[in-house]
Order: sequence, then C-alpha cells, then structure tokens
Amino acid sequence: MDFLTLCAKRYSVRSYLPDPVPQEALAEILRAGQLAPTAKNNQSQKIFVMQSPEAKAKQQQLHACYGAPLVLLICGDEEIACNRPVTHHSMAEMDASIVATHMMLAAKSLGVDSTWICAFDHDMASELFCLPDHVKPHLLLALGYPAPDGTPSPRHTDRKPLEQTVTYL
Ligand SMILES: Cc1cc2nc3c(=O)[nH]c(=O)nc-3n(C[C@H](O)[C@H](O)[C@H](O)COP(=O)(O)O)c2cc1C
Repeated sequence: MDFLTLCAKRYSVRSYLPDPVPQEALAEILRAGQLAPTAKNNQSQKIFVMQSPEAKAKQQQLHACYGAPLVLLICGDEEIACNRPVTHHSMAEMDASIVATHMMLAAKSLGVDSTWICAFDHDMASELFCLPDHVKPHLLLALGYPAPDGTPSPRHTDRKPLEQTVTYL
C-alpha cells in the first residue's frame, strides 16, 4: 500500500473486537515510535503499555477506549524535552504527537487499527499512574481490530479543501 493510500485508509475506530494485538506487531509499532523525529533528538516521549489487569483497570477509569484490547498512554517528559528558544515553551507535546503519529500509521501498515484519545481527565491520569510533575500525559492510543460496527465516522471523509488550510506565500 502506498503512503497516501495508507493515510486515507486509516480511520478512528470506535468499536473494537476483543482479539489481542500480537506482541510482534506491538514491538514493530513501538519501534516506529522510536524512529520518530523529536526536537534535538531528545526523545522525551514516555510510553506506558497497559498490560497488567491493574493498569487496564486504571485506564478504564480514564476512558473505555471503545473496548480496544491494547492501549498505550503517551506522555512527554518536560525535563527531557527541548524548550522553544524565545518562549521557553516545552516541545514535549509535539514530540509525543509525532511519536504517536508514527505508531498510529505503523499500526495501520500492519493491519492494526487505532484511535487517538484525548478526552480524559489528564490530572486523574497523572494521579492514577503516579506520574512525576514533569511527565505530562497527552493521549491514549487505542489499538486493535474493528468490530462490525467499528466503521469510519462521517468525519473521516470530511476534509477541508487545501485552499482553506494551505497558504502559498
Ligand atoms: C489531538 C486529537 C485528539 C483526539 N481526541 C479524540 C477523543 O478523545 N476521542 C475520540 O474518539 N477521537 C479523538 N480523536 C480522533 C479524531 O476525532 C479523528 O481523528 C477525526 O475526527 C478524523 O477522523 P478519522 O480519524 O476517522 O479520519 C482525536 C484526534 C486527535 C488528533
């Protein structure tokens, strides 16, 4: 599958089968995240794989993740990330986002679907997973295989024309 077809075929799954994601696929997905570019190559991402029943129960308190059999909590370590030179704003969230994007697209290339989830209580996530103050939770990445009703939402095909998002200067 060429890259643009992969991008077009990826969609947010909001109903998963319970079938597990094989460990080999998880290893490749994590490797794709490792290969992502980050500011100054500081690799500020911290990725938590929900494997134990305890971790899964905590994740369920944050978001049910549409029944996904595998969920990653993707965080950014602001002690490790670069800051923007003028504003000193941390680039950790950008690092985490590009790592998550690599993993999401790598997953699709392996036939594993995903959902990027931010609608959870980030403070609760920090508490539940005992994150130090400098490690900020950014998203949950749900991974798995779609149930019959896990079809693309109408938003999936709704993309603005490039004229609305791109300006040639
Ligand atoms: C930053 C960000 C936050 C998102 N948060 C959620 C979320 O909390 N719950 C959810 O179901 N989808 C979430 N999504 C998925 C988007 O709604 C989805 O990507 C968008 O509507 C386009 O649909 P598609 O992914 O099916 O192409 C999020 C995506 C991004 C990039």
